[in-house]
Amino acid sequence: MTEDGLHAPRTDGPAATAYRIATIPGDGVGPEVIAAGRRVLDAAGDRFGFAISWSELVAGGIGIDTYGVAIRDDDVAAAGAADAVYLGAVGGPRWDDPNAAVRPEQALFALRGGLGLFANLRPVSVHPALVPSSPLRPELLDGVDLLIVRELTAGLYFGRPSEERRDATGRHAVDTLTYTEAEIRRVVRLAFELARGRRGRLTSVDKANVLATSRLWRKVVEEVRPDFPDVAVTHQLVDSCAMFLVKSPAAFDVLVTENLFGDILSDEASVLAGSLGMLPSASLGERRTAHGIFGLYEPIHGSAPDIAGQDRANPIGTILSGAMLLRWSLGRGDVADALEAAVGRALDDGCRTGDLLPGPGSAVLGTRAFADAVVERLAPAATTAQAGR
Ligand code: IPM
Ligand code: MG
Repeated sequence: MTEDGLHAPRTDGPAATAYRIATIPGDGVGPEVIAAGRRVLDAAGDRFGFAISWSELVAGGIGIDTYGVAIRDDDVAAAGAADAVYLGAVGGPRWDDPNAAVRPEQALFALRGGLGLFANLRPVSVHPALVPSSPLRPELLDGVDLLIVRELTAGLYFGRPSEERRDATGRHAVDTLTYTEAEIRRVVRLAFELARGRRGRLTSVDKANVLATSRLWRKVVEEVRPDFPDVAVTHQLVDSCAMFLVKSPAAFDVLVTENLFGDILSDEASVLAGSLGMLPSASLGERRTAHGIFGLYEPIHGSAPDIAGQDRANPIGTILSGAMLLRWSLGRGDVADALEAAVGRALDDGCRTGDLLPGPGSAVLGTRAFADAVVERLAPAATTAQAGR
């Protein structure tokens, strides 16, 4: 991710400030990966001369068990008062009753919607050492470096009505897909800005041959386009995009799409990186803090209940989400670069988690040990070439 573009905060160098991060460990492997991410961010603070003041909020399935709701309104407000939110995962089989009125995922929607986090950034790149971990042929992965910008606070996830009904003929269910032009324009503008700071290519993904919302989406993209003459835009139908993502993934730079399409395409794209456990995400809105843009950061994998509590989860998606947090919400692109480089060095040195294919001379580490391996490879501030970039 580059720091170019209007929305990107600038690095303001080392500060004595204590950044305030609210954690939401959540369910399943969430607490383990968040502990690993905290450990790495604290170590980065030691090396680069800043401190983090952590708070912890209870949300997700554990929120339902503790308070009867996935997240309390006060806790959404508390999350919104921090500089950034660091979230593990929510959900699990214990709360999977499809008829339940309260569901762990409601915490995500309350945070995303309640805090105005309309843009979800999901970068996907392939570390050379992990090429064998992907089922795709190595030559297809060469040069893959894409960014999915998913609209996060509208569309089918938020449209009402959304319910099951019963009448004389039986049951039927309805979900509502709506987008206003303002909801489309703000995320599309951000995607254009991000494309401008990268390789200058934007793919807008829709289903304009079927959906009215997609036809409005396309019109808005065309209206924004003249403001970014340096960005090459293509419209692609989502079904065809799903095919090209595995057929020629290196051709993509920035993709921008609505909520549900972005959800599906980002899981598909994670296959390129070798494992769902690799992918970080940032959810951003418009609110600025003293240091950058307020945001929520989480790995895109879920709560993985089958391996919860066993120190087996891959913490890389969470650690890289921490790097995005540093870059976007704390204005510390220098530390973010150092952290990403440390993860890369750990992989180069053969460190793996159980979800990644072992290479020659590699070692499978647990969640905690992998975080330690990253900490050991964090360069001190003085030797980081990009400091202040
Ligand atoms: C994601 C997840 C969530 C989503 C689920 C857990 C509701 O899949 O963040 O991609 O669909 O947004
Ligand atoms: Mg998803």
